[in-house]
Amino acid sequence: MGKQSNYVSRQPDENGIIAWSGEENAVWHDLVERQLKHIPGKACDEYMHGLDLLNLPHDRIPQLHEINEVLQETTGWQVAQVPALIPFDEFFRLLANKQFPVATFIRTREEFDYLQEPDIFHEIFGHCPLLTNPAFAHFTHQYGKLGLNATPKERVYLARLYWFTVEFGLLQTKDGLRIYGGGILSSPGETEYAISSDKPERKPLVPLDALRTPYRIDIMQPIYYTIESTDRLFEIADLDIMALVREAMELGLFEPKFPPKPKTDAA
Ligand SMILES: [Fe+2]
Repeated sequence: MGKQSNYVSRQPDENGIIAWSGEENAVWHDLVERQLKHIPGKACDEYMHGLDLLNLPHDRIPQLHEINEVLQETTGWQVAQVPALIPFDEFFRLLANKQFPVATFIRTREEFDYLQEPDIFHEIFGHCPLLTNPAFAHFTHQYGKLGLNATPKERVYLARLYWFTVEFGLLQTKDGLRIYGGGILSSPGETEYAISSDKPERKPLVPLDALRTPYRIDIMQPIYYTIESTDRLFEIADLDIMALVREAMELGLFEPKFPPKPKTDAA
C-alpha cells in the first residue's frame, strides 16, 4: 500500500514459470521454516487445513500454477501475478474476479522481519491457505465487488473492514483465540503478540465499528476484532455493507488507539 516500492516483481516466462534465484528461494525457506514454528496452536484450524492442502514447498518459492491447482479445486479462486504495487481499481477488479493479486517479489534479508509492501511470502503463506475456505473466499469476493463500484472515499472505509478481517482478524473459538488474518500469520512477532500479549484490545467484530476504526500499517495492532468462526464471514458478506459504509461516514472515525506516526519509524 506504500506509494513507492524498491522492489520489482519477477516476470514469468512464456510458460508462467518464474526463475527465482538461489538467494530468493533461501529467503523463502527461512521465512517458512521460522513461521511454521510460531503458528501451531495459534493459527485457526481452517488455516492449518488450507496449509495442508497447499502443501507448500519449503526449499523454493512455489510457482503460481501450483497454488492455482489447489485454489481452483477448493473455492475456484486463482492467484494473479502483479507488479509490486497496483492501483486500487486493479486490486478490486482482480478480487471481483476471484483473482488474488500476488506481487512476485520476495523481501531481502535486510527486511527479513518487516516490510511494508506485501511480498510473495505474505500473499501465499499469509492468505492463500484461507482462500481454500469457502466463507473466507466468498467474503473476499464480495469485498472486491463492492470496492470495484465504490467511490475513493467509500473505499477508505471498506479497507478498514478488510484490514480487521482478512489481514488482522482473530477467531474466538471454544479452544481459545486463533488467527485467520494473513497480516498476522505472515509475521512471527505479531503471531505471538496477537494471541499471547495482554497489550492489545480484543473485541467481538461489529462491522460498523470496524469500518470506523483507524489503523496504522507499521505497528503492532492496538485492537483486534474477533469472530466465532470463519462462517460468520458468510453472514457479514451478505449484509448491506455499503449502507454500513455510509453510516460509518456519517458517524465518523473512532479516536485512534495509537500515537501519531513518528518522523523516523524503524520497524
Ligand atoms: Fe495482505
